[in-house]
Amino acid sequence: MKENIGVDFLERTKYRNLDVPAQSLGYPNPPLQKPVKNQTIELPSPSLISIEDCNVREIIEARSSVRSYSDEHINLEELSYLLWCIQGVKKVVSGIASFRNVPSAGARHALETYIISNRVQGLDKGIYRFIAIGHKLEVIEIDNNVVREVKKACLNQEFVTESALVVVWSAVPYRMTWRYGDRGYRYLFLDAGHSCQNLYLSSESIGYGVCAIAAFSDENMNELIGIDGKDEFVIYVSAVGKKN
Ligand SMILES: Cc1cc2nc3c(=O)[nH]c(=O)nc-3n(C[C@H](O)[C@H](O)[C@H](O)COP(=O)(O)O)c2cc1C
Repeated sequence: MKENIGVDFLERTKYRNLDVPAQSLGYPNPPLQKPVKNQTIELPSPSLISIEDCNVREIIEARSSVRSYSDEHINLEELSYLLWCIQGVKKVVSGIASFRNVPSAGARHALETYIISNRVQGLDKGIYRFIAIGHKLEVIEIDNNVVREVKKACLNQEFVTESALVVVWSAVPYRMTWRYGDRGYRYLFLDAGHSCQNLYLSSESIGYGVCAIAAFSDENMNELIGIDGKDEFVIYVSAVGKKN
């Protein structure tokens, strides 16, 4: 019988089966985010973004997955707001941890956030990384055809090409496993879920719709973002656009 990978994963990540993690062995805390290597673009400050008052109960009830979008552009203020909601940093304890608008196991915040710009006012089409500590964007690649590449990587889910932007979360596992060993892999997926839910709710609050996407080719998505799939791998994707 084929080995059950899921059951095996749960078994091997039980506390009793874990190796001593790097932190307990005295290894240094890895960086809180990946270094910035390219040109950056300032985003409107989160403190300047104003949104209409909204009722959380109504927003939660109204949320659904949206796969059809108007052809409007999202503006930088709205983008800045969404990024702040999904990974915005409230406090940094230098070299130790950051505290953000989403929870994370041990405040490890092992996610990186990329956006694929398709119709963002003031941004060329292409791939950008959200620099959470600093609240700005790093240009990864300008590419007019990028949304078609993302659609292909998302197993040809056509609605992706209609979106104004696509959010791609990656995980840097060592940032988490440094403290928790292989059990940390469980937490990466949980953290991604929290962030995506904030994307759903914050988008809903400004008239945008979201569809979470987990049906993607790992190889194609990692290659598109320019990551190796091991030390950093794409964990979750979402399409976002103004509701019709
Ligand atoms: C982990 C996860 C993966 C998903 N992957 C996809 C996907 O690849 N394509 C898609 O169209 N919808 C995807 N969805 C959206 C679900 O189909 C949707 O949440 C579900 O049908 C319930 O509908 P609702 O979100 O409108 O309540 C995904 C949702 C989750 C939570």
